[in-house]
Amino acid sequence: MTDRYAVIGNPVAHSKSPWIHAEFARATGQDMSYASIEAPLDGFARAVDAFRAAGGKGLNVTLPFKGEAFRYCQRSSERAALAQAVNTMVLEETSFGDNTDGVGLARDLARNLAVDLAGKRLLLMGAGGAAQGVLGALLEARVGELVIANRTAARAQALAARFPGVKVCRYEALERSFDIVVNATSAGLSGAAPPLPEGVLRPGVLAYEMLYGRDTPFLAAARAAGARSCDGLGMLVEQAAESFFLWRGVRPATAALLERLRHG
Ligand code: ATR
Repeated sequence: MTDRYAVIGNPVAHSKSPWIHAEFARATGQDMSYASIEAPLDGFARAVDAFRAAGGKGLNVTLPFKGEAFRYCQRSSERAALAQAVNTMVLEETSFGDNTDGVGLARDLARNLAVDLAGKRLLLMGAGGAAQGVLGALLEARVGELVIANRTAARAQALAARFPGVKVCRYEALERSFDIVVNATSAGLSGAAPPLPEGVLRPGVLAYEMLYGRDTPFLAAARAAGARSCDGLGMLVEQAAESFFLWRGVRPATAALLERLRHG
């Protein structure tokens, strides 16, 4: 019988995950289907229960349910516990939650963008779910320095306190010496950019926007400043590949697929 998987979120219609996983399944010869489920905002657990009852084997979880998915799962990985968020559920007799977002970002940087994180000075903007999900993997990649900036300082402080070695800085007080600037805020969704001081984005800096599928003001500012810029499409593909591996035990190739997603 064909094994069933899906992405669950709200909204979810825009998700590229069904296409990506269908391509992974085809390329690796796995007998599986992958759908999308739009759960009501107050109906995540019910929707997961129904999917399980119908034989569903695994789910990707997207906004706004990653925290709820973590609480739903009976067991979880260390990296999911660190992020307090789950983007991949393995559904057997018990439910297991993992988080592949961080590894997705680290692999996109290392493999697709050929950026070695070791020793680099990295600025992470934002302190919400997106930032929380990637901090562990960035530290594991042995960045030299990791600074969090967030509009609401208290939120940045609370997040940094859970990750030894991570510093917090107000936007206005940021130095101009970062190698990599990651935008993990949702500012781009409303056509805004985080309030970065002049000079942080400059030639030689990699500006990484975790959103994808839109040209955000942050990406535009990076280009205008002569920085190298990149959106989150590679992270999406790499986190999907890691989810696929968790479910199927097979690692799909990602580079050619990412090329096709970027250039049609
Ligand atoms: P997500 O799960 O996508 O991270 P979230 O938990 O709502 O969503 O967090 C959104 C993040 O984007 C927060 O860090 C938020 O800053 P605050 O904590 O100060 O609210 C940040 N953010 C959203 N819009 C922003 C803007 N226009 N400028 C700067 N930061 C912004």
